[in-house]
Amino acid sequence: MSLEGRIALVTGASRGIGRAIALALAADGAVVACASTKPGGADETAAACGNGAMSLVCNIGDTESVTAAIDQITKERGGLHILVNNAGITKDQLLMRMSDEEWDDVIDVNLKGAFRTIKAAVRPMMKERWGRIINLTSIVGIGGQAGQANYAAAKAGLIGLTKSVAKEFGSRGITCNAIAPGFIETDMTSSLPDEMRDKITSTAAAGRLGTPEDVAATATFLASDGASYITGQVLVVDGGLTL
Ligand code: NAI
Repeated sequence: MSLEGRIALVTGASRGIGRAIALALAADGAVVACASTKPGGADETAAACGNGAMSLVCNIGDTESVTAAIDQITKERGGLHILVNNAGITKDQLLMRMSDEEWDDVIDVNLKGAFRTIKAAVRPMMKERWGRIINLTSIVGIGGQAGQANYAAAKAGLIGLTKSVAKEFGSRGITCNAIAPGFIETDMTSSLPDEMRDKITSTAAAGRLGTPEDVAATATFLASDGASYITGQVLVVDGGLTL
């Protein structure tokens, strides 16, 4: 139980990778605040986590909602040690057809959303002189992807944010790392055409798509005391797809 006594916030915890990360953190002993955009949206995840987990609203596209969520966690659970910036959206479109709105929405949620949560979360972490910030980027943020200019730009921006936060807060006992998953079986990738799914399966060294649990295991490691000398890094979890 390496995370016993730690309090964690996971954004977008209602399903997919966020749900798996919340469950894995709880299994390692953390008290997990499972956040969702809608009231009750993360109730099922929190119930499955047990161990004092709570379900709360945190819309990362709204600064007031983020501040209120972090205040609620520190009041009701006594602090905050681990922040997992998991929530994210896609609005895919070829650049020539991409609207300003599609660009702005994805940058606002996927990139500025992490700025909002980190800014609010570092205060309680500094008090504890211990913190773990884990940002979900993507291999698309490293290599780019046709039809995902907005998403790739946001995910690339998250890498710069990760490294900057690592430098700014390293001396306070706070680490900040990013996880760059490849293709993981979730609602976000459920509409992938079979042809693309087959191509990914045959290209990945692991010979399969990833599972949310593959990503969750990486997150629990980065959240642990064992990862205290790892900061500003991007851990690629893609089964060798981009080798
Ligand atoms: P998903 O679409 O299944 O879940 C995303 C979660 O974020 C949902 O719970 C949703 O309600 C929440 N969310 C959306 N907008 C929000 C907002 N404004 N405020 C708070 N929560 C919000 O996605 P999945 O696949 O579980 O992905 C999780 C993270 O991993 C995302 O950041 C995604 O970009 C990243 N990722 C996923 C990959 C995949 O293959 N599934 C690959 C690489 C990165």
